[in-house]
Amino acid sequence: MDYYRSLKPLLFHIDPETAHGMGIRAMKMGMVPPAPSINDKALEVALWGLKFSNPIGLSAGFDKNAEVIGPALKLGFGFVEAGTVTPKPQAGNPRPRVFRDPANEAVINRMGFPNEGASVFKRNLERFLRQSQKPSGIIGLNIGMNKDQADPASDYTALVRLLGPMADYLTVNISSPNTPGLRDLQKREPLTALLNAIMETRRETCPDKQPPLLVKLAPDLTMEQQEELAGTLMDCKVDGVILTNTTLDRPDYLSPDFREQKGGLSGKPVREKSTALIRNFYKLTDGKLPIIGVGGISSGADAYEKIKAGASLVQIYSGMIFKGPGLAYAANTELLKLLRADGYTTINEAVGADHK
Ligand code: FNR
Repeated sequence: MDYYRSLKPLLFHIDPETAHGMGIRAMKMGMVPPAPSINDKALEVALWGLKFSNPIGLSAGFDKNAEVIGPALKLGFGFVEAGTVTPKPQAGNPRPRVFRDPANEAVINRMGFPNEGASVFKRNLERFLRQSQKPSGIIGLNIGMNKDQADPASDYTALVRLLGPMADYLTVNISSPNTPGLRDLQKREPLTALLNAIMETRRETCPDKQPPLLVKLAPDLTMEQQEELAGTLMDCKVDGVILTNTTLDRPDYLSPDFREQKGGLSGKPVREKSTALIRNFYKLTDGKLPIIGVGGISSGADAYEKIKAGASLVQIYSGMIFKGPGLAYAANTELLKLLRADGYTTINEAVGADHK
């Protein structure tokens, strides 16, 4: 989509969050042209009883209020993860709170889950689901807790109760660095208690069709922590894991002012670290726990790298900022070529290929 190349210098003069808001409005108004469709069996992924038309999804944080699911699917994403949504609306941290480093295709954000709350989210989602001519695609819902919540389980279970029946899958986000105490939930005891409570609510709320439950983790985990977490997730029988959220790392090569900003770093600088976690979790779980790989993907080759390391599906956020709305289509086209060049006829054959 060439128009993005001419628009980008203008957009990059504007505060990143304001530019994002303009993008969301343009998508809502139908001003972002849809991508050509790629219907190729080789890109399809069957997982959790769901059929993904391609393995590339839009990562959480882009569509926090479930406002642009339809337009995002039309850009060629096989799935969209809306959220993170919290039960009550909240403003998040003071602005500015999103920063770009164009030279390194990197982003730092310390948004702190600003969102309009679960009832607005639900209304938006219902409006999308009611459409008679809606684009097809899988809808994941990413849930989190309010900043002032002392009992995390009560927020997560309230969201499962409200939104679970509408979700193709649910993601428990315990890895944002911008909500105090959230990442502490990645420890065995609190995580087991939280997941048990969520799964019980899921059973009660959705007795017939339980949406798969995924947990999204941070990339900043030691080998010991990764081992413990892989064990906990398997013991708790979650359906999958999303690797990874943003990192607290600050590589030396980042632009000096940018580097000073507090928050989570995403985009190219997190790519290798996130792929390393995918590789390690695949190994730790014997390839038995499906992985969604995310972090620094900005091409089909980047997506393929994560698939071969062990991801069944992948997601993108920051890459969209630097490459524009044509990225899902471009990455799928490239991925298809790479699969064929290696003699694979389905994505599934390539998942974890590095380990074989
Ligand atoms: C995010 N991310 C994110 N993740 C999440 O689970 N809930 C959220 O609300 C957000 N919000 C958010 C805002 C912004 C501005 C960015 C850049 C990122 C993290 C995102 O989904 C993804 O895991 C990481 O950004 C790594 O992938 P990319 O961006 O390198 O493709």
